[in-house]
Order: sequence, then C-alpha cells, then structure tokens
Amino acid sequence: MSLTDDITTPVGAAGIPGPATPYQGDIARYWDHEARPVNLRLGDVDGLYHHHYGIGEVDQDAIGDPADSEREKKVITELHRLESAQADVLLDHLGPITADHTLVDAGCGRGGSMVMAHQRFGCKVEGLTLSAKQAEFGNNRARELGIGDFVHSRVCNMLDMPFETGAAAGSWNNESSMYVDLHDLFAEHSRILAVGGRYVTVTGCWNPKYGQPSKWVSQINAHFECNIHSRREYLRAMADNRLVPQAVIDLTPDTLPYWELRATSSLVTGIEEAFINSYRDGSFQYVLIAADRV
Ligand SMILES: C[S@@+](CC[C@H](N)C(=O)[O-])C[C@H]1O[C@@H](n2cnc3c(N)ncnc32)[C@H](O)[C@@H]1O
Repeated sequence: MSLTDDITTPVGAAGIPGPATPYQGDIARYWDHEARPVNLRLGDVDGLYHHHYGIGEVDQDAIGDPADSEREKKVITELHRLESAQADVLLDHLGPITADHTLVDAGCGRGGSMVMAHQRFGCKVEGLTLSAKQAEFGNNRARELGIGDFVHSRVCNMLDMPFETGAAAGSWNNESSMYVDLHDLFAEHSRILAVGGRYVTVTGCWNPKYGQPSKWVSQINAHFECNIHSRREYLRAMADNRLVPQAVIDLTPDTLPYWELRATSSLVTGIEEAFINSYRDGSFQYVLIAADRV
C-alpha cells in the first residue's frame, strides 16, 4: 500500500491494521470515548482540535481580570492559542517541506496538527490513530475545510504503517509515543522516512537525572493508561534506528505557564497537580526532539 492510496479506503479494510494487542484495544476504546471539555471546547475556538498541551507565556492582557464575566471564555481561548503554538514549534522543526511531499502524523488524535501542517506546507498529511471515532472526526473536519484530498486520517497501528519504505519526507509523534515501545516505533519511522527526512517528537519523558519515574509520573501513567519513557530511552532508541538528533529542546519552562493557567480554569481534569509538581521537582520534562533520518 502506498501513501497515494485513495482516501476513501474503508477503515478496517485488509492491509490497514488496527489494534494489534489487547493493550492497543484498550487505548482505542479510551480515545473512542474521550470527550473531555478541555479538548472539545478549546477546539471549538477555531476548529483545530488538539489533544496535546501548550507552550509559551500567558498573555495576561488577553485573559483579563479574574472578576471579568468573560474570563472563562478568554482563558479557554488562551489555552488553545498555547496548544496551537506547541504544534507550530513542532512543524518548525520538520525542515524544508514542499507541497509535493508527504508527511505522517503518527497518533494523530482529532487531527489539529495535520490541518496546521497542510495549511503551512500545502502538502499531503497522513494521520494514524487507533480510534475510529478520532479518524472519522478528523476526516469530517478536513472535508468541511475543503482539504479532504490532502489531510487524511485512518485507523492504524503506528508500529505497522501502511506506507512504502522511504515514502515520507517527515513524520512526527505529538504526545503519542508513550503508548508504544520506542525501538519498535523508531524502527517503523525510520523505514517510512526517506533518507535525509526529518522525524520530530514532542513528548513528556521522565528525567534520568531524577533516578526513576517519580510518584507524579506514575500518576500520569495511570491517568492516561500510558507508559512514559525516559529521555535516555528516546535518545538510545533513535540512535539504534538511524535517527540522529538534530535538536533536543527542553520545553519544560515553556509549558509550565500553560499548566498553571489550566489549573485555575473550570476545565481541570484532576491531573494538573501531577504535571505541575513533576515539572517543578525535575522528575518529568517536556521535550522536543528533532532527528535526521540518515
Ligand atoms: C494524546 S493523543 C495525541 C493526539 C495528537 N497527536 C495531538 O497532538 O492532538 C494520543 C494519540 O495516540 C494514538 N495512539 C496511541 N497508540 C497508538 C498506536 N499504536 N498506533 C496509532 N495511534 C496510536 C491515540 O489513538 C491518540 O490519537
């Protein structure tokens, strides 16, 4: 199967592998049922639906006074702006992408980053998610925007991507690498990327300098049913799979303002304290790693 397959290929058709393990079945169900206001109400701001966190300074003028009757709406708009800023920084690291290239979003969620990638580069963007609901949502959104020929999501296990060797100029995981074994994941990205292509991940990882995953990191794992890896594991698994880091950026100081603002909003999910405490005590880091496929 190639990247240029007809986008009407039915979900679940032969050759499009979905969940392969019982764990992946659990994750598919998790995201099929996920409808947290913190994701949907932020996406409603401008139609870009993200399932990741934000970076950058909070614009205090934009959120206004705590007594302002419009405060909550303004906070939601600001949180969404910071989430889109995160995706922009990821896209900044993909290198020189042109309209005839193809990009792959592994673990694409509802597709916000894919829409942004197409709007920036004009190219095709192929998304993979375990959740049929997310794939349907992303495809509907792309059709509504008139970019359905360019932005396409499908139900697929990212450890077994339906793309030919070397077919992608760039690929990424935006907060989706904590659901899989990193050696398996990077072997697959390395296979689908052209030599000279770029891989980017933005992810939370536990800090080897701290020693072991802290109790906060364990809480985050339990909350999201995931398995956060260490920074060391990322770099080792990349090195073992012909992915050579070109940039490793610690975004922890940039994401803390987002969490501190989110903790004050009505959209709290209960996990805010674990993120804030683990970022502050140094046991957890928010990083971007961009790597060249050599
Ligand atoms: C936290 S969400 C991130 C979504 C998206 N990258 C974003 O930034 O909005 C995690 C995503 O990873 C996907 N995922 C987890 N394991 C996967 C796998 N083995 N294959 C494909 N997608 C997977 C989930 O289906 C979900 O869409």
